[in-house]
Amino acid sequence: MTFTHAIARRPAMNAGDGLTSASFGAPDPERMLAQHRDYIGILESLDLQVTVLDPDEKFPDGCFVEDTAVVTPEVAVITRPGAASRRGEEAAIEPLLAGHRPIARIVAPGSVDGGDILVMGEQVLIGLSTRTNEEGARQLTGILQACGMQCISLAAGDGLHLKSSINGIGDNRLLVTQEFSECAQLSGFERVVIPADESYAGNSLWVNGRVIMPAGFPATREIMDELDIEILETQVSEFRKMDGGLTCLSIRF
Ligand code: GLY
Repeated sequence: MTFTHAIARRPAMNAGDGLTSASFGAPDPERMLAQHRDYIGILESLDLQVTVLDPDEKFPDGCFVEDTAVVTPEVAVITRPGAASRRGEEAAIEPLLAGHRPIARIVAPGSVDGGDILVMGEQVLIGLSTRTNEEGARQLTGILQACGMQCISLAAGDGLHLKSSINGIGDNRLLVTQEFSECAQLSGFERVVIPADESYAGNSLWVNGRVIMPAGFPATREIMDELDIEILETQVSEFRKMDGGLTCLSIRF
C-alpha cells in the first residue's frame, strides 16, 4: 500500500485537559506544537499531502485524529469514539474523507477508536478495548468484510489502544510488545518483539516503506536497524503524556 494523503489536527492549547492515564506530568503546549510541526514535516517528506486542521478547544484530545476514522482502499469508516468526551471530533474529519472514499459509519451502541484498528493489506486486526466494544467490532467487521477484507478481533492488551502495542512495519511483519509475542491470533504474521522496558516504541508508524519511531528507544532502534528498514526518529514526549503517539496523530490513506 502506498499512502498519498494524510489528515492531522494541530493540538489545542488545552490539550493537557484531555484524557490520560500517564503519569509524566502536563504537556508543554509550545513543545507539543513544535513536535507536531516536526511530525507533519516527516509525513510531507514521505510524499504525503497533509491536511492540517486547526485546533478546536472543545476537543482537547482532537489532535489524535486517527481515532475518528478507519480508511481502507475501498471505504472510509467514520467511527463513534469510545470516550464520550471525544464524540463529535469525527464531524470535521468526515467531509475531508468524503472526497476520497465512500463513507460508512459506526453507530450506537457500537464504539470504535481508530487506534484499535490495524489494517495489514487484506487483513484487519480489531482490538477490543475500553474504547472499541464488541458491537463496534461487529459493525466494522460487517463493513470491511463486504469490501473483501478479513477481520480478526483480539484483546487490545495493556495499552490504551491496540496500536499502542502492535504496528505493521512492512510486508507481513508486526512490531509487537512482549505481551503479544506469543499471541495465537497473530500467528499468521512475522513478529519483531520489543524489549520489555521499551514498550512505548510499539507505537511506531510505517509510511511508504519507512518506519517512524519515537525518539529515545535505543534497544528497539538497534533491532530495527538489523532488519534493514529505513528508520526516522522524532520526539513525541508531549503526546506520550496524553497517552498518544505517532500513529494516532494522523489518518493516512
Ligand atoms: N488522550 C487520548 C485518548 O485518551 O483518547
